[in-house]
Amino acid sequence: MTSSASSSPLWIFGYGSLIWRADFAFVEQRPAYIRDFSRRFWQGSSDHRGMPGAPGRVVTLIEDLEACCAGMAYRIDPKLTSTVLAGLDHREQGGYDQLQLPIHFSPTEVVTGLTYYANPRNSSFLGEAPVDSIARQIVDSTGPSGPNSEYVLELDSALREINRVLAQDTDNHVAAIATAVRQLLSTAIP
Ligand code: SIN
Repeated sequence: MTSSASSSPLWIFGYGSLIWRADFAFVEQRPAYIRDFSRRFWQGSSDHRGMPGAPGRVVTLIEDLEACCAGMAYRIDPKLTSTVLAGLDHREQGGYDQLQLPIHFSPTEVVTGLTYYANPRNSSFLGEAPVDSIARQIVDSTGPSGPNSEYVLELDSALREINRVLAQDTDNHVAAIATAVRQLLSTAIP
């Protein structure tokens, strides 16, 4: 985990739970996208959506030239930068590091900001798997932050909303996992 204070104003880009659970202080939020990354359920979570030895799956960014990944950008009050980053460093400690990158609001409006990125060398990284196996692992996982399925369904619904106003996302990975998760939940024996 690295920590950095950048010049003001700081923009933070969320592409996973930071879209639908922004539990930090911000002065503005705007739908945005980043280039050359795809969002994938390839990161293991033993601290939020799973347990040690039985990790759930959460999203990270995978380098993917020409891809566009939509999310939410948050502008942070310069006076609160260190407090907000300390909170996020703690929340994202399960394999994520800060990454500085261009955040696009439109093809011509771009700022430099930060995102939390779990690179494939971190010890919790799980990597690629078939949609059905990922969905099964998610339905079977729960952790201190709640059921892993909640993470998927909240993210899917938040992304649909963002994509309605900013049609930039280039893939349907989250929607495919969410569909498979819904299917498994609907056929689960109580
Ligand atoms: C993010 O939301 O931007 C990072 C990954 C996560 O916390 O789900």
